[in-house]
Amino acid sequence: MSATGIKIGGLVLASPVVAAPMAGVTDKIFRLLAREAGAALTFTEMISAKGLLYNNRATWELMDLRGEEGQVGVQLFGKEPQVLAKATRLAVEAGAALVDLNMGCPVPKIVKNGEGAALMRDISLAREIVAAMVEAAGGAPVTVKMRKGWDNGEVNAVEVAVAVTAAGAAAVAVHGRTRDQYYSGRADWGIIKAVREAVNVPVIGNGDIWGPQDALRMLEETGCAGVMIGRGALGNPWLFRRTRIYLQEGRLLPGPSVGERLAMALRHLRLAVEAKGEAVAVKQMRRHLAWYCKGLPGAARLREAINREDTLAGVEEIIRAYLENVS
Ligand SMILES: Cc1cc2nc3c(=O)[nH]c(=O)nc-3n(C[C@H](O)[C@H](O)[C@H](O)COP(=O)(O)O)c2cc1C
Repeated sequence: MSATGIKIGGLVLASPVVAAPMAGVTDKIFRLLAREAGAALTFTEMISAKGLLYNNRATWELMDLRGEEGQVGVQLFGKEPQVLAKATRLAVEAGAALVDLNMGCPVPKIVKNGEGAALMRDISLAREIVAAMVEAAGGAPVTVKMRKGWDNGEVNAVEVAVAVTAAGAAAVAVHGRTRDQYYSGRADWGIIKAVREAVNVPVIGNGDIWGPQDALRMLEETGCAGVMIGRGALGNPWLFRRTRIYLQEGRLLPGPSVGERLAMALRHLRLAVEAKGEAVAVKQMRRHLAWYCKGLPGAARLREAINREDTLAGVEEIIRAYLENVS
């Protein structure tokens, strides 16, 4: 089974399993858990290049990579080549292993501004941006994450990928959905294959990897060099290692037990409390905790009970009582 590491420019990844950037999700703590669980590369949330240059505090917090041991990619969004170039320099200084340009974000606030997925509609600008970023990166790889296209009438990932790699992008990640699909419908892996056949840099396939077998199927069907996992890893960091082992050794490890899931949920919560304080963390973590509980017996009731708690001790008690009842 072929599934060794990947080389992106000068950056060597130990395995082909990559954690996707997700706004509001892939903060420092998520990245730590993903890395521990076996992701070879993690990403920040998308970060406004302009926000960095304007010294926006919240924006800078997203780029805090201090203390992180593994490879972290910083993902930037924006549309002005010189702004993105300066932000790229800042990202490299902050410790980015690579700098990625967001060409996939579908939300109106972003695309109305000509950023995110809207960049796929202006290929010469995209090319100019990537060239400016590559020049500013001082040797660190610059990558692009894109979609299949804007909509079904405008499927142009191949053309975009050829343009940005000609401008120096060291890898491209392709999400097999159009902008107007957002996250619905099934991802089209055919477009990943088409991009792979058109460019000479590693292609990272993305979209609908929910289990280790999906990752193998994507590698086999598309010939991509790496797989990027997003929603499948929510409340489920084990998916990274299970996928890596399945690809590299052909062994399918079992998923986590109920106890393991809730222990990880509590660890995630405690790390968040340490980093952000109890009041903020307990509220922010409700989404994550719901993801960890998904599929457990009585998950809806467990989630509701957790959501009524405002303290770490309260959540710990709910989970302790739940475990006592299920075992
Ligand atoms: C909550 C959420 C936030 C996301 N934020 C980003 C982002 O900041 N940058 C980005 O390139 N993609 C973002 N995405 C898209 C994912 O990286 C990925 O392309 C998409 O979810 C498809 O992969 P999946 O089927 O494995 O989830 C986000 C997706 C979700 C669900």
